[in-house]
Amino acid sequence: MTSEKVVVGVSNLPNQRYKIVSENGGIFTMMVCGESGLGKTTFVNTLFQTTLKHADPQQRRHQPIKRTVEIDVLRAVLEEKNFSLRVNVIDTPGFGDNVNNNKSWQTIVDFIDEQHDSYMRQEQQPHRDVRFDLRVHAVLYFIRPTGHGLKPLDIETMKRISTRANLIPVIAKSDTLTAKELQEFKLRIRQVVEAQEIRIFTPPLDESEVPDPAVMEHARQLIESMPFAVVGSEAKFDNGQGSVVPARKYPWGLVEVENDSHCDFRKLRSLLLRTNLLDLVLSTEELHFEAYRKLRLEGSGASDDQSVPARAPARKLSHNPQFKEEENALKKYFTDQVKAEEQRFRQWEQNIVNERIRLNGDLEEVQAKVKKLEEQVRSLQLRKH
Ligand code: GTP
Repeated sequence: MTSEKVVVGVSNLPNQRYKIVSENGGIFTMMVCGESGLGKTTFVNTLFQTTLKHADPQQRRHQPIKRTVEIDVLRAVLEEKNFSLRVNVIDTPGFGDNVNNNKSWQTIVDFIDEQHDSYMRQEQQPHRDVRFDLRVHAVLYFIRPTGHGLKPLDIETMKRISTRANLIPVIAKSDTLTAKELQEFKLRIRQVVEAQEIRIFTPPLDESEVPDPAVMEHARQLIESMPFAVVGSEAKFDNGQGSVVPARKYPWGLVEVENDSHCDFRKLRSLLLRTNLLDLVLSTEELHFEAYRKLRLEGSGASDDQSVPARAPARKLSHNPQFKEEENALKKYFTDQVKAEEQRFRQWEQNIVNERIRLNGDLEEVQAKVKKLEEQVRSLQLRKH
């Protein structure tokens, strides 16, 4: 575990929200997950403007970022004015390294469940220690920038996570897609998210009697940008306008991390650390943790908090029969997809056969015409002689 002090703006929190967050101890825990090599660690380092993983700059200069091989908890304190926020970042090993990736989501889901469980146990103690509260407030799910669509593994993993925590899908390494490809990719992802009923975290719209138009507009922009396209970089370059900025350098120019016309990094940072920090914390508390607690108590036949054994082993909710239904629905979806694909393939094969028949017909016609012309030529030649 690493502990570092970094300064990132959190003073934008409106006053009353600021007060609640600080009274609650100001803890924010986010998790990054997704396939291997998608830039998760780089993103975290970019977000906190430091190298959380390589505290020693000497070491960093000589070594590339190490591959994440186990769940890693990084701790930082964000400070601004009199406000201090403890941030925990949970970096997870990338999927895709195993021969069987079917259950890549299990480690993540188990980790989230275990934190809920551990917090429930903490609640029984006379003095709670906030350092043990690692309930995950936001899970950033990194999607490979293929430009095609979501893989079944992405769909399944996102579904599972969304039953436990606030899920925020992001398109990794978005600098590898053109603007047009990115727009189409975003649209496709949104369609799948909707069709599959994957619950993603959406910034709530201002429901006060006199909504603040600026807040409404910001929330609208965030919603429209989802899934956020991100670019991460620990390197900084001169942008030619007198500033040295985090960016990725290409022969044709810079992709600037904090430039809204290059990617959605700033929007995502705002959602995580500024405008929606409290929403993420409160919804984890009120929705996800409460749902876990309920299931856990129902599962153990308990009716109130007191009856939860203080040292009960973490029960894996992912083994709960309730999720069997979800799994079956998913299996059915995949079977239907395969069937539809087979049908499409058969249709395509039939089209080829039809086309071949048509071409054969055309060929016979052409051959007959050629034969006729040859005969005409021959008779003309005979007449000439
Ligand atoms: P695992 O630890 O294996 O899960 O990988 P990871 O997802 O943490 O990826 P990591 O941050 O280690 O980055 C992998 C490679 O991608 C590194 O060479 C990074 O420099 C590069 N990379 C990271 N972010 C970006 C990005 O936004 N765009 C591009 N083009 N490359 C990136």
